[in-house]
Amino acid sequence: MTMTDNGSNMTGCATAPAKVILFGEHSVVHGTPAIAVALNLRSRAQVKIKKSDVSHLIVKSPAMGLEVSFSSDRLRTLGQASGSNGNATPLDPIALGFYHVLNLIEMNGFDATLIIDSEIPIGAGLGSSASVATSSVGAFLAAFNGEVDSLQVREIAFRSEELTHGKPSGIDNTVIALGGLVYFIKGQKPERKELSTEIPLVIANTRIPRSTATLVSNVASLFKRKQKAVQNLFDSISDIVEQGLHALLKNDLEDLGELMNINHGILHALGVSHPLLDRYVWVARESGALGAKLTGAGGGGCMIALAENVHHASEIKQELIKAGADAFTSVLTNQGVETC
Ligand code: PMV
Repeated sequence: MTMTDNGSNMTGCATAPAKVILFGEHSVVHGTPAIAVALNLRSRAQVKIKKSDVSHLIVKSPAMGLEVSFSSDRLRTLGQASGSNGNATPLDPIALGFYHVLNLIEMNGFDATLIIDSEIPIGAGLGSSASVATSSVGAFLAAFNGEVDSLQVREIAFRSEELTHGKPSGIDNTVIALGGLVYFIKGQKPERKELSTEIPLVIANTRIPRSTATLVSNVASLFKRKQKAVQNLFDSISDIVEQGLHALLKNDLEDLGELMNINHGILHALGVSHPLLDRYVWVARESGALGAKLTGAGGGGCMIALAENVHHASEIKQELIKAGADAFTSVLTNQGVETC
């Protein structure tokens, strides 16, 4: 919401969800479809902007213990460098979002302070960087326009994602900006569907840090070396995504679980699993999960398990906690980026 206290301060506030990729991570970077859902863990961004002769943006993340000031020159340098050069500091992608919003509204001379906060585990495959980029862009647009267009936020947040990850497919910022369930093919208009029933998922975090950019580049180099074999794996994932969409629309949990198991096997073959992810996948299956797989880039981070119902999800969660995981049951959401 825009507010002008004493006629000169503009304020904006927005929140955005986390995400879980149900099917198709990694192959989506190479043009196959994928399905993701929005998860109701949220990031929040609040900005205060006033006109000033000396332009700068201060970004504060109390949770990360970070506070960085970006001059207008620094913003321009960020805006003119395309994609990631591996040197971005954690708050650079947020500042880049501000640069693109400023270009849209053509404002010169600003003194802006943004405060970000998030409930989403960092670097765990749940889209924390895309969520913070999305809520920040939402807050900037809310301050200037008084409202937020989720498709516009999605586009600007993609620039931030490029700075963070190099060559992202765009699935994270898409599902986070739009909410609900998204069927996504890189470069095409996403298909968004409203979630009408809860999908009883359990999420377990290995707490093993990993780099999405490195894992994506490892898959790309395996693809170069073993083109036919890897293309066959991508084709199988494509098939799983199409069948997964039907299973989701019919709410056929057994079918969905079986497809998750096959997708995990293929991700393992692509070299993006981790012994602890595999262990948690087996703990979940042995606790009766209908299916389990890693989610997101892999190499650590999170896995997801599908339960028969909410009660069963809580039993699987307990078994995963006993095995040492940071586990919780999911609550999905149709709410993408929103003003607050
Ligand atoms: O943001 P992460 O770490 O959950 O990974 C995103 C999914 C990938 O397919 C591995 C990368 C991408 O850009 O789609």
